[in-house]
Amino acid sequence: MSRARILVIGGGSREHALASALREHDLFIAPGNAGTAALGTNVAVAPTAIAEIVALAERERVDLVVVGPEAPLTLGLVDALEAKGIRAFGPSRAAARLEGSKVFMKQLLKRHGIPTAAFEVFDDPDAAKAYVRAAARPLVVKADGLCAGKGVVVAANVDEALEAIDRMMVARDLGDAGRVVVIEEILPGEEASFHVVCDGTRAIPLVAAQDHKRVFDGDAGPNTGGMGAYAPAPVVTKAIHDEVMRAIVAPTLRAMTEEGSPFRGVLFVGLMIDAGTPRVLEFNVRFGDPETTVLVPMLDGDWFSVLDGAARGDLSGVKAATKPGAALAVVMAAEHYPRTPKTGDRIDGLDAPLPEGTFVFHAGTKVEGADVVTAGGRILTVGARAATLAQARDAAYAAVSRIAWRGEHHRSDIGHRALRA
Ligand code: AMP
Ligand code: GLY
Repeated sequence: MSRARILVIGGGSREHALASALREHDLFIAPGNAGTAALGTNVAVAPTAIAEIVALAERERVDLVVVGPEAPLTLGLVDALEAKGIRAFGPSRAAARLEGSKVFMKQLLKRHGIPTAAFEVFDDPDAAKAYVRAAARPLVVKADGLCAGKGVVVAANVDEALEAIDRMMVARDLGDAGRVVVIEEILPGEEASFHVVCDGTRAIPLVAAQDHKRVFDGDAGPNTGGMGAYAPAPVVTKAIHDEVMRAIVAPTLRAMTEEGSPFRGVLFVGLMIDAGTPRVLEFNVRFGDPETTVLVPMLDGDWFSVLDGAARGDLSGVKAATKPGAALAVVMAAEHYPRTPKTGDRIDGLDAPLPEGTFVFHAGTKVEGADVVTAGGRILTVGARAATLAQARDAAYAAVSRIAWRGEHHRSDIGHRALRA
């Protein structure tokens, strides 16, 4: 198809990056941000408003819907679109359970012998507490359902685990998502973000990336949605890559097909790699953010063919390789993020010309009169692709230094694991 009509769902730097990769096409973005407004038409519809999105896709006669975030996937957006004959990139509601239910995911991995942390499932808080007391060691407590990154507590001791159980299962801080919990062993090692684009049976691996979840330098402070990313991640050696494809991706796709819910879309395997062995920490059924901002410039191929091939259920003949060099991206966040970010501050420096290879992807931004102002927690993801990771880092931070607003903060050590090695 030469020029397609594409609707991108979401409004983060992930969606701006995907939209930029699809900029040759006619784009609608719901809801989008100030960055996507320059590439297509933003439509003020929430990603979880399933009926409205289906109506929008019909009204605009879109050829392909690309779903960014997990929530609409677990609500069945792709099923609803396909019921109307509209092609969509992303898993069905049943396949989205790989992210939407930790119990489903863990039990599937266990049944198929796919490496992951040993675990138990509890729907009774007293039984969960008894288990934690008897174990008398650090454990991870995970709410079964989706909770926007707040459902995992890596408990350093028994008291922290008991407190997490009380919060999730008794006080129901996370609503229904915490009715059932998974309690699992803590895995040592180094994390990596491994994305594969899938058509049900085939899988195209993208370059391995690494995120930085803690808000401050040196991996200190509370968890966030991610403060920066880079690729390739050297912790994923060729041998690890092959092992992930053989021992994790292939059996997971086979298992999902056997379960009657073949996986189409992108499977983001959250890996923990220890002593040469990769294990699954979690699955996400959508692209990582900020990982996508480095995956997009590193792909040697046509993003439309990749996304559309997966959505059609046929990636045969789709060519996608990884470009040489490296990419690195830094998240610029609003004051007080990740707690209660301050919004409405004017962003300066967005008009500066961008050197070759540099990119500025918007997340929580909006246009207000002649200004672009902050409208979320993570505001911009700014980065570069270059011949080496050190050059990409220098170019990324040079671009960061030209942009400012009141209270802005970012990490200054993105890529440290690879750059210090
Ligand atoms: P999630 O919300 O599932 O992405 O988990 C958040 C973070 O918790 C992960 O990125 C890891 O850093 C950490 N985590 C989750 N499970 C484990 C585990 N079994 N062992 C060690 N760390 C874990
Ligand atoms: N950056 C991690 C995620 O998207 O879940």
